[in-house]
Amino acid sequence: MPRTTPTTLITNITSLVTNDPAQGDGTPLGLLTDAAVVLDGETIAWVGPAAKAPSADETYDAQGRAAIPGFVDSHSHLVFAGDRTQEFNARMSGRAYSAGGIRTTVAATRAATDAELEANLTHYLAEALRQGTTTFETKSGYGLNTEDESRALRIAARHTDEVTFLGAHIVSPDYAEDPAAYVDLVTGEMLEACAPHARWVDVFCEKGAFDGDQARAILTAGKAKGLHPRIHANQLSYGPGVQLAVELDAASADHCTHLTDADVDALAQGNTVATLLPGAEFSTRAEWPDARRLLDAGATVALSTDCNPGSSFTSSVPFCIALAVRDMGMTPDEAIWSATAGGAQALRRDDIGRIAPGARADLAFLDAPSHVHLAYRPGVPLISEVWRKGARVA
Ligand code: NIG
Ligand code: FE
Repeated sequence: MPRTTPTTLITNITSLVTNDPAQGDGTPLGLLTDAAVVLDGETIAWVGPAAKAPSADETYDAQGRAAIPGFVDSHSHLVFAGDRTQEFNARMSGRAYSAGGIRTTVAATRAATDAELEANLTHYLAEALRQGTTTFETKSGYGLNTEDESRALRIAARHTDEVTFLGAHIVSPDYAEDPAAYVDLVTGEMLEACAPHARWVDVFCEKGAFDGDQARAILTAGKAKGLHPRIHANQLSYGPGVQLAVELDAASADHCTHLTDADVDALAQGNTVATLLPGAEFSTRAEWPDARRLLDAGATVALSTDCNPGSSFTSSVPFCIALAVRDMGMTPDEAIWSATAGGAQALRRDDIGRIAPGARADLAFLDAPSHVHLAYRPGVPLISEVWRKGARVA
């Protein structure tokens, strides 16, 4: 077969996070200094010390910057319309966060045209890409009827393979008097219409949203339609979400802010990743999830944005890394691993989240000599260049 794309040798990377423990210093981060990477089309072909780099058709000089795998944001809610500035203002004046604010976004989302929803989604995707995110998951959950949930998923699926059906975000306002009938709708007609457009099924398992039995019914129905579960679990209070996630082999239990010792043990023993979303605690002024406790117990931790107009209106993974290091007991190395390889595990993907032969060529270059600067220099736009599938995209 004649070669259709030239190979590219990227040299002069002063410090490279590979997430390949076989590389470099033998830590999970697989850190290489004075590194080079060879890209072959959309894929990484070679990684190692610059001194040993093979030749390639083209050469690109990274000019002494650090590089990391593109971020894998495994939890966002980007198909929505409107904003909730007033609600945020009220919270910052002392009002508590309540999931009821979701209704405001449901009304705005239902009223929006497809074109408006897609323009909003692409706006936040471009924002995330500029900040180093090369893979993102996103959900429905602001439609809460069959038509608006399925259109949200159709729009999302044009932009990512990681699409999640969250018809069970809260009980639809149309069913306020009959939550059981809403669960029937979600597990019946709505699931039927939504499953072809999604990979995942999610439930907000929380007081005021869905209890453990309802969540089990919804996730089990989703599984029967070929969707794989993930759960909004233990965000606002203690509850059954984490245990249910492990029981159902969910890829991820998301939030994990209120955990008993039994919850931590279950996550440490099971295959379910604990996805922590510190943007939500930041903008709801809630207590931080305890990443240190989870890591010390042996659980796998991912870090993501939860970008949504209510509880966490940030698309910035670097911001979440800085919060996790400052307030959740993570080291910079752990936080960067969690935002890349951890996110990939939360999506059960092994082609992303690492810079190793065979992985997708997704890299972020930092205007800094080391990945540690992402936490050390919070709020500074250090992502200077982003490559996705072997092409420079930002
Ligand atoms: O992940 N917890 C539930 N859902 C979102 C919040 C959505 C909203 O407030 O609009 C979350 O934090
Ligand atoms: Fe969320």
